[in-house]
Amino acid sequence: MFTITVVILSILSLTTPSSSSDQPPRSPADVCIIGTGIAGSSVAHFLRQYSSSISQIRMFERHPIVGGRMATVTIGGETFEAGASILHPKNYHALNFTHLLNLKVKGPSASDSSFSLGIWDGQKFLFKTIDSKSKSSVVQYFVSLANSLRMFVRYGVSLLKMTNFVEVTVDNFLKYYESKESRPIFNTVEDMLKWADLYNLTTQTLEEKLVALNYSPLLIQELITVITRINYGQSVRISGLAGAVSLAGSGGNLWAVEGGNWQMAAGLVNRSDVTLHLEEEIESVTNLDGFYEVNSTKGNSYTCQVTVVATPLDELNIQFTPKFSIPERKLQHTHATFVRGLLNPVYFGLDSMLEIPELVGTIESDELPFTCISILKEHSENDMTYKMFSRQSLSDTLLDQIFSIRSETIRINWGAYPHYHAPEKFAPFMLDDGHLYYVNAFENAASTMETGAVAAENIARLVLSRLSSQQPLRMYGLKTSILDSSPEHREL
Ligand SMILES: Cc1cc2nc3c(=O)[nH]c(=O)nc-3n(C[C@H](O)[C@H](O)[C@H](O)COP(=O)(O)OP(=O)(O)OC[C@H]3O[C@@H](n4cnc5c(N)ncnc54)[C@H](O)[C@@H]3O)c2cc1C
Ligand SMILES: *[C@@H]1O[C@H](CO)[C@@H](O)[C@H](O)[C@H]1NC(C)=O
Ligand SMILES: *[C@@H]1O[C@H](CO)[C@@H](O)[C@H](O)[C@H]1NC(C)=O
Ligand SMILES: *[C@@H]1O[C@H](CO)[C@@H](O)[C@H](O)[C@H]1NC(C)=O
Ligand SMILES: *[C@@H]1O[C@H](CO)[C@@H](O)[C@H](O)[C@H]1NC(C)=O
Repeated sequence: MFTITVVILSILSLTTPSSSSDQPPRSPADVCIIGTGIAGSSVAHFLRQYSSSISQIRMFERHPIVGGRMATVTIGGETFEAGASILHPKNYHALNFTHLLNLKVKGPSASDSSFSLGIWDGQKFLFKTIDSKSKSSVVQYFVSLANSLRMFVRYGVSLLKMTNFVEVTVDNFLKYYESKESRPIFNTVEDMLKWADLYNLTTQTLEEKLVALNYSPLLIQELITVITRINYGQSVRISGLAGAVSLAGSGGNLWAVEGGNWQMAAGLVNRSDVTLHLEEEIESVTNLDGFYEVNSTKGNSYTCQVTVVATPLDELNIQFTPKFSIPERKLQHTHATFVRGLLNPVYFGLDSMLEIPELVGTIESDELPFTCISILKEHSENDMTYKMFSRQSLSDTLLDQIFSIRSETIRINWGAYPHYHAPEKFAPFMLDDGHLYYVNAFENAASTMETGAVAAENIARLVLSRLSSQQPLRMYGLKTSILDSSPEHREL
């Protein structure tokens, strides 16, 4: 499964021996982008920002709205994030987009930092922070956690190491914001990660990494597991890098775009002079010697010199000709269930609602039907909106046990993020030796809005540098290293 690309290459070079001389690159170029999430919209944005030689950008979206996994849900007349909900203070592309687009940052409110957490094992709470009355979103509770004496008593000084591990990783990631003069254009995900010293973290599991760092087993099994389950729906056997990103997403000063993170994609699409094709699903992409024929289920056919795939290919059946093969990857499905109503203390073996923590996290156990439950909003003492994540869909029967009142329920099944495996295998950024690109190859490193934007920025530079160079690359990055500094791959 992993070596077919090489075969395709040789077939291509047999059948199209003189394509570059027969078909000089048209100029200016037409670019087609499949997917309007943060990745696709960022590619469009950076193509426009870095070049004036792109003529048309077409973007295709199978849904009636842009944003992909950034989306909101409306329950009980109020709107909440249904997918990607929080950003890290050092997510600089997202911050810049937010400012550029005149969107508003929604920061953590003071009450958020005193969010109560409980770790549920299916029978009892293994651990609970001191209860406090506060309203919040899933995410801001860790400020209080870090400060909680109870946590130190249970988990010891390993807690302090957690911050250090996350900070080192975040600092490495900051290299991707260096100026274009000092930052190479990366042909492969591996090269991109190695350059920032992040690659090694993808070769071992988070658990292995933390054990090597001497973390206490209890901390790994409980608190860290709670976090990886909330952020990636998976255990501490995800890669060290996905794990570090997950832990970073549990720190303080997290933020979101007021009114919905999807507005970043909408704004970028709006200001990038894009021809937007909503409710148009791409079903085939054919390389016709110098350009791509991109067909949609509406029966339309488009001609594109460059085609960028900005969505995970794992659950799609877009027909590519010629075929290629990429490492097999499964998506982790996360079922997000939104409930307006009231939790039932009896389910948790408690006497009163007030004893149920505002965030119920869980450890790894086959018996647990859900990964977390949190209060999104307290409308009144007996009327709340909750968000639950689970690996399987939650039946009405089960929800009727967990909740004593349930006036509204909304279920969303997300093909949420890769199921992480260490050592990770990465698909190529370049799916053929022409101009077919794959932004979401980077999702095996970590899946976040910001990593999508960072990968997209690199893809935009890669597209432009390869368009402007005379000879198409024939190496797929198998041999070309980022550290080989052939000038045409370094400048735009
Ligand atoms: C429940 C959940 C919680 C998350 N929490 C966070 C978080 O707190 N913070 C964070 O940073 N990240 C979070 N993430 C991850 C984040 O959502 C993703 O990493 C990111 O949004 C991916 O963006 P993307 O543009 O790469 O892909 P997507 O957003 O999936 O965009 C791909 C788009 O392509 C479209 N498409 C697919 N196939 C076709 C086709 N054939 N033709 C036309 N269009 C097509 C899809 O409809 C979709 O709109 C979360 C994800 C989930 C599911
Ligand atoms: C964000 O914008 C500022 C001001 O325009 C710029 O200096 C900075 O380089 C940008 N950051 C990124 C990551 O592009
Ligand atoms: C990554 O791992 C390799 C092999 O184990 C090692 O030689 C290298 O020094 C490591 N790099 C970093 C940045 O830790
Ligand atoms: C699109 O951009 C224009 C300005 O270029 C702005 O007036 C308009 O409000 C934007 N629309 C959306 C939906 O962002
Ligand atoms: C794409 O559409 C064109 C025009 O309708 C058609 O000729 C071609 O066969 C289609 N390609 C595929 C792979 O279906």
